[in-house]
Amino acid sequence: MKVVIVGSGIGGLACAVACAQESLEVTILERAPQLVPVGAGIQVPPNAARVARYLGILPKLLEKGVALDGIHYRRYANGKMLFDRPNVKTDEQYGAPWLVIHRADYIDALYQAAIAAGVELQFGAEVDHVDFERTEVRLKTGETMSADVIVGADGLWSTSRDRLLGFPSPPVETGDLAYRGTFTKAQLEALNDLEVNKLCSKKVVTAWLGPSKHAVFYPLKGGQQFNLVLLRPDNLPIGARQEQGEVDEMQATFEEWDERLRRIISCLSAASKWKLCHHEELRTWTRGSVALLGDACHPTLPYQAQGAAMAVEDGAVLGKLLGLFKKSIHLRSEVKHPVAEILRLYESLRKARTTLNVKGAIASQYWYHLPDGPEQEARDAELETAKWCNDTKWNLTSVDYQNDLLGFDVIKDCEGAFETWRQKRDNSDGRQFTAET
Ligand SMILES: Cc1cc2nc3c(=O)[nH]c(=O)nc-3n(C[C@H](O)[C@H](O)[C@H](O)COP(=O)(O)OP(=O)(O)OC[C@H]3O[C@@H](n4cnc5c(N)ncnc54)[C@H](O)[C@@H]3O)c2cc1C
Ligand SMILES: *[C@@H]1O[C@H](CO)[C@@H](O)[C@H](O)[C@H]1NC(C)=O
Ligand SMILES: *[C@@H]1O[C@H](CO)[C@@H](O)[C@H](O)[C@H]1NC(C)=O
Repeated sequence: MKVVIVGSGIGGLACAVACAQESLEVTILERAPQLVPVGAGIQVPPNAARVARYLGILPKLLEKGVALDGIHYRRYANGKMLFDRPNVKTDEQYGAPWLVIHRADYIDALYQAAIAAGVELQFGAEVDHVDFERTEVRLKTGETMSADVIVGADGLWSTSRDRLLGFPSPPVETGDLAYRGTFTKAQLEALNDLEVNKLCSKKVVTAWLGPSKHAVFYPLKGGQQFNLVLLRPDNLPIGARQEQGEVDEMQATFEEWDERLRRIISCLSAASKWKLCHHEELRTWTRGSVALLGDACHPTLPYQAQGAAMAVEDGAVLGKLLGLFKKSIHLRSEVKHPVAEILRLYESLRKARTTLNVKGAIASQYWYHLPDGPEQEARDAELETAKWCNDTKWNLTSVDYQNDLLGFDVIKDCEGAFETWRQKRDNSDGRQFTAET
């Protein structure tokens, strides 16, 4: 069984490793001339770390990344601690650690695993057409490549998505943008600021929450580098995707904020500015033997740190389902459009979860960015006294929601779903079975 994956982002690479683990033949077609880790840092929440373990790269991520001791939510104006999230330090609760890592290290770990597993990767290969009858992609050069399965893992501005739907379906602007930048420990130390040094010596993610904006800060490379993301109302022109970020503008935007944050911003020499877009729910992710994954089908505001996490879950589930299917040879000869059924099963397993995440991120946009006033005071009081219970309107402090988001075992889930599908198939005398969505 041959799988062609369009795009070598975190999602495409994870899918490639998962497929190769099942002894499928995998080729990745990547438009860029080399691997492109966009943005510097990334959080790897426990559900993504669990997938990393499944793909055999968790030790590498632990070696290159930083396992968190905490996530600190602070008030924008004075930096007062609102909430020290109690359950990030231990694996016990969710079955895997919570890490932060440089994207280049994350991508390299996936890439090395893919190459070791025999995946073929072609760079400078831009896909511009998909033939759904023949299960074939055409490159910009005119070259074609056919496969048993095609996976569109080509990100936020996915070409595969538009071809699959049959019309352009660009992601929707969320009204927010992100500045992303990094700097070194030496730059921080040059500030000579005791309070900043104290903040930076911890293995924590610090998030300052304020009216219509928030800021996220964490260490990389064992504390030798730092990652800063600033979120604010979008002032890029409609349709713009990315621009150079001006440090002066960033300073002015956070003028009223915690002195330490402003000093940290002053360390930046360069930053980029990204329009944040999403899709609340795409109508369909599959057509024939072609399926989408990751940002191509469920791009999200990054406010639950789950975009890439959901992409690697997609990849692991898809690889596992195709592997299980490959082993059920009798089914393959009986079913008329077998791969299409498996892909619909994949979509049905993944869509509810990823849609919940996109909606959760929209809810976080609201809660994080409350203007000062009674609702914000109520939020802060709830955070201060959070009992980590489930009767909260804010799912951030809901034990059930967090268990489902971070502790869910997607592989076990899809093995169970495949078994149910297989049994129905075996009992259905070759009649077409459609996965429930
Ligand atoms: C500010 C910010 C912070 C974030 N923080 C986090 C976080 O902490 N944790 C987290 O889990 N997620 C986070 N995310 C989300 C995360 O970055 C994305 O969800 C994730 O990178 C998506 O991966 P992907 O593989 O689906 O797509 P991409 O990474 O976009 O990869 C798509 C690939 O396809 C290639 N491609 C595109 N078109 C074609 C074509 N026609 N032919 C061939 N190749 C093509 C591209 O070159 C690219 O390599 C954040 C996002 C932002 C903006
Ligand atoms: C909060 O969690 C519950 C339970 O999972 C879910 O039904 C609800 O949609 C969530 N709310 C948001 C805004 O994500
Ligand atoms: C709250 O959480 C507990 C423990 O996880 C669970 O038993 C209970 O059913 C939950 N209640 C609601 C209303 O979801």
